[in-house]
Amino acid sequence: MCGIMGYIGTEKASPIISKGLKNLEYRGYDSVGVAMLSALSGSLEIRKGVGKVDDVQNQLKFDELDGNIGIGHTRWATHGTVSRENSHPHTDCAGKVAIIHNGIIENNIELKKMLLSKGHRFSGETDSEVIAHLIEDRMNSGDIGSVDSIGSVDSIGSVDSIGSVDSIGSVDSVGSVDSVGSVDSVGSVDSVGFVDSVGSVDSVGSVDSVGSVDSVGFVDSVGSVGSVESAESTRFGSCFEDACRWAFGQLQGSYAVLAMVEGADEIVAVRKDSPLVLGQADHGTFFASDVSPFLEWTKDVIYLQNHDFVVARKDSLRICNLIDGEVDRPVDTVEWSVEEARKGNFEHFMLKEIFEQAETIQKAIQQDREVVDRIVQMIQEGFGVFFVACGSSYHACMTGSYLMSKIAGVHVNVVLASEFENYEHFLTDRTLVFAVSQSGETADVLDAVKAAKRQGSKIVSITNVMGSSLSREGDELLMMNSGPEICVLSTKTYTSQVIMMVLLACALAGEDEDCARRVKELYMDVHNLTSKNMRERLRNLASLLVGKDHIYMIGRGLQYTTAMEAALKVKEVSYIHTEAFAGGELKHGPLALISEGTPLFVFVSRENEDRIISNAQEVKARGGYVIGVSDWDNPVFDYWIKVPDCGNLNPVIQAIPLQILAYELAVELGLDPDKPRNLAKCVTVL
Ligand code: G6P
Repeated sequence: MCGIMGYIGTEKASPIISKGLKNLEYRGYDSVGVAMLSALSGSLEIRKGVGKVDDVQNQLKFDELDGNIGIGHTRWATHGTVSRENSHPHTDCAGKVAIIHNGIIENNIELKKMLLSKGHRFSGETDSEVIAHLIEDRMNSGDIGSVDSIGSVDSIGSVDSIGSVDSIGSVDSVGSVDSVGSVDSVGSVDSVGFVDSVGSVDSVGSVDSVGSVDSVGFVDSVGSVGSVESAESTRFGSCFEDACRWAFGQLQGSYAVLAMVEGADEIVAVRKDSPLVLGQADHGTFFASDVSPFLEWTKDVIYLQNHDFVVARKDSLRICNLIDGEVDRPVDTVEWSVEEARKGNFEHFMLKEIFEQAETIQKAIQQDREVVDRIVQMIQEGFGVFFVACGSSYHACMTGSYLMSKIAGVHVNVVLASEFENYEHFLTDRTLVFAVSQSGETADVLDAVKAAKRQGSKIVSITNVMGSSLSREGDELLMMNSGPEICVLSTKTYTSQVIMMVLLACALAGEDEDCARRVKELYMDVHNLTSKNMRERLRNLASLLVGKDHIYMIGRGLQYTTAMEAALKVKEVSYIHTEAFAGGELKHGPLALISEGTPLFVFVSRENEDRIISNAQEVKARGGYVIGVSDWDNPVFDYWIKVPDCGNLNPVIQAIPLQILAYELAVELGLDPDKPRNLAKCVTVL
């Protein structure tokens, strides 16, 4: 969902931004745009359009743009239709300020009303556009009230009036100023452009050059004034920063924003409840929604916190926090490699990531023993455990609740993060909330975490993205260690989550060693499932299913939650309506949907064999086409997907062939499995 990329440094920005935008495609988007500050003309150039990154950038020739400062954006429409006007960057009325934004500005209607009443003109319908106009409004107000002290300033553009100032440190250049009130003391000034009138100044240090000054009131003492050459061209560095700072302060909601202005060699940024990270290379600074877009240039990353305000220039980077003031953000090193974030020899990321699972599940089980022990203790000593998540992570949590019950005899409440507010009154300081999210940025999950924290509940975060919001929110953190997952659909992160659930349940039951051994043995089973033969078999099945309008799936217990995940995979990538039911529920409604040839997948394990097979027979008797997923063939199956029986690890084993089937269906239908329509990898809005 909305991707952000920015660069300022000594390299040409446009190819960097273009490549970064391409690397951000996986998040999901419908339009794309860039803003560059031309080094030749000094002007701000915006190019944007609807469509895929490759198409839009080829058509609009992003790479032709010169300059070392640029911002780029992939938009996933929320406020306003998919159109060029609504795509980012957005500008102010004068086209001098450009911004890109990810998140939702909740008070955009009030802000827009205020800005319209002041004469601002809007070009689109997005909530984001107000940000550019707010900045413009502040800059145009020319109103700098009373200031205690100004430190060192590179340049000041045009200012209508300055009230009283106690002291000004060193200033490189001052553009045109209409009037200056009273100033106590001015340190050293390199050059002053055009000043209409100066009130009273107590003392001036050394001034190198002064342009034209119309009138000077009363000056107590002047140090040395050098030669008067000519009025300097005006620039608006620090005022832009101030205007951004003010504008960001007006925003309610969630936002990661990059802003730039014609005439200032800087990018100003802020984040609150939307992801934004910085990459630091020798030649410059990168801004992005996550680390993957800039991995090929640098692995040195700064994870910004809420309300962090950043001013980056070619040779400097300043970060402060709009609430806490001065802050020191450490530079971390990302462990992910560039290769992990590339397709390699695979046609699609989805296939690559499915095939990585033999390894990724082994990494998922490798957790810090002490952290796991502490979590076990928290469960044992607490009162009430919630698993909270969305999408595939929710299915992993459902599976986890069965495993907790089955292996450890512990009851867990599983709640969709978007529904969590309905349970808030159960939360106490003894409640333990597991927040599970591969991206670590899902807004509903973060919102649930906030609610739980308000009640003093403890949080265990489970995520795949180090530095993500969720990774910083919890009392304890477990990382999935799956490496970057680029395809919008979760595959390897889902199976890693299930493995972590098995691990937690086994740790609670004191069976962790046995668990580690069984997961190790799973390596070959998973490897075999991703073999050429299996893929061919599933490709054949896909060709039988492509014409179908509906597919149903059933299971019981761990096979029910697996069916839920399998149905999600198939529907999101093939757009075929696919639904999962608990086997026992068939007779309570879904059976009415079965007619001649309706495909039904049946997930079977030795434990629930009799009942689920009799459910399958009920479907078969009504003309259904039964596809069995089990370790033995059964006469009721019209088609059999053979998987080994791995007991409590079946949710991993049985999910994988369905991931491959979903992939093959998409390919057969000519769809892009990595980027299903309307979906986003990282859902950063509520
Ligand atoms: C989106 C993705 C799904 C994912 C869900 C939850 O809908 O398309 O694949 O399962 O978000 O994401 P999370 O990052 O919180 O696990």
